[in-house]
Amino acid sequence: DVIDVRALGSHGYFTFDPGFMATGSCESAITYIDGANGVLLHRGYSIEELARDADYIELCYMLLHDKTPTAEEYSKFKDTITRHTLVHDQVNNFFRGFRRDAHPMAMLCGTVGALSSFYHDDLDISDENQRLRSAYRLVAKMPTLVAMCYKYNIGQPFVYPRNDLSYAENFLNMMFSVPAEQYKISPAVARAMDRIFILHADHEQNASTSTVRLAGSSGANPYACIAAGVASLWGPAHGGANEACLTMLEEIGSVDRIPEFIEKAKDKNDPFRLMGFGHRVYKNYDPRATVMRESCHEVLAELNIQDPLLDVAMELEKIALSDPYFKDKKLFPNVDFYSGIILKAIGIPTNMFTCIFALARTVGWISHWHEMLSQKGQKIGRPRQLYTGETQRKYSPIKKD
Ligand code: ACO
Repeated sequence: DVIDVRALGSHGYFTFDPGFMATGSCESAITYIDGANGVLLHRGYSIEELARDADYIELCYMLLHDKTPTAEEYSKFKDTITRHTLVHDQVNNFFRGFRRDAHPMAMLCGTVGALSSFYHDDLDISDENQRLRSAYRLVAKMPTLVAMCYKYNIGQPFVYPRNDLSYAENFLNMMFSVPAEQYKISPAVARAMDRIFILHADHEQNASTSTVRLAGSSGANPYACIAAGVASLWGPAHGGANEACLTMLEEIGSVDRIPEFIEKAKDKNDPFRLMGFGHRVYKNYDPRATVMRESCHEVLAELNIQDPLLDVAMELEKIALSDPYFKDKKLFPNVDFYSGIILKAIGIPTNMFTCIFALARTVGWISHWHEMLSQKGQKIGRPRQLYTGETQRKYSPIKKD
């Protein structure tokens, strides 16, 4: 049920809703979530079908263009993205300014924002073609920047993008090839990577997407808006949860220690929470977590990896779901619960997990930004506040000698 309260503002009233528990900030035709029943649709298509039958590039087209591409449109779009993957050579200099041990998300925030200093030809946000060109550039360059963050961290030379590879293959190649040895891309790993991108592509008005929309509502350029999205995603309550979740599973270490951590999560005096559990909108299974769990089993089997963390995760899920605390609060595993185990199997270090999320979510962020700017009567986002400070009082200047 929706109550439209916009008219209240002109009468001097406003609603008070910290955390936006019951506030819709926009109209959108991109993604639908039914949190009670665990349903997620992009442009009307279920996440389960998309993860099984589509690829990430096709989904990017759908999110940006509100239709499934024809074979010809798909091929042209794929070609456009491929041709935009290279970043300006000057971007290399930005990296040199960072400490070698900088968190990759810190480098990503900075370098994504810096892209606006290179592409002056697409900063007229009133022009739809320029908006789309910046969207293509961002989707294309994110894998390059993310791989550069990794290479910089480990002190290896940057690997240039290759036009003969798919989106996921190209990313894996930039991550893992070294001058002396070309990375051998396994089709199973490339497919798992692509599926992770699909499962993170969009999720309507979460904290980072709302941040992008709010930044964009002032007319800020797309690169600055996406940098704001990257910053918002970083927190452990949002995209940083995948990194925090794997760290937690490693800390638990073995199935027999699970009850201890469950008790910690239930203790109101302990700030610890089960990472990868709970969601503002899903009060049922996060459908992305179901696909992720299946994918996790497939990838480990195909790569012939026995990871004890998967046993810990499955048992933790089982115990939590049968515990009255988690049942009553409707806390289920979310997308971050199993993704880390897959990323680890692929060889991606834990501190890169949130960058992978940012890479995949860029298309969602930029689709929302583009949609917002295409809507008539779009207003600057400007929430009100409940002032709790002093009433007006007399200022007496301090005596300075
Ligand atoms: N472990 C233990 N208790 C939890 C957890 C958890 N993971 N999540 C929520 N709760 C409890 C809270 O303590 C609270 O209890 P109370 O009502 O007795 O005070 C109740 O459940 C509701 O939690 P809120 O924080 O009020 O719910 P909200 O909708 O604001 O937060 C959130 C949702 C941030 C995702 C939360 O569930 C959480 O912190 N989860 C762990 C971090 C995580 O996995 N984040 C990823 C989310 S998905 C994504 O961003 C891709």
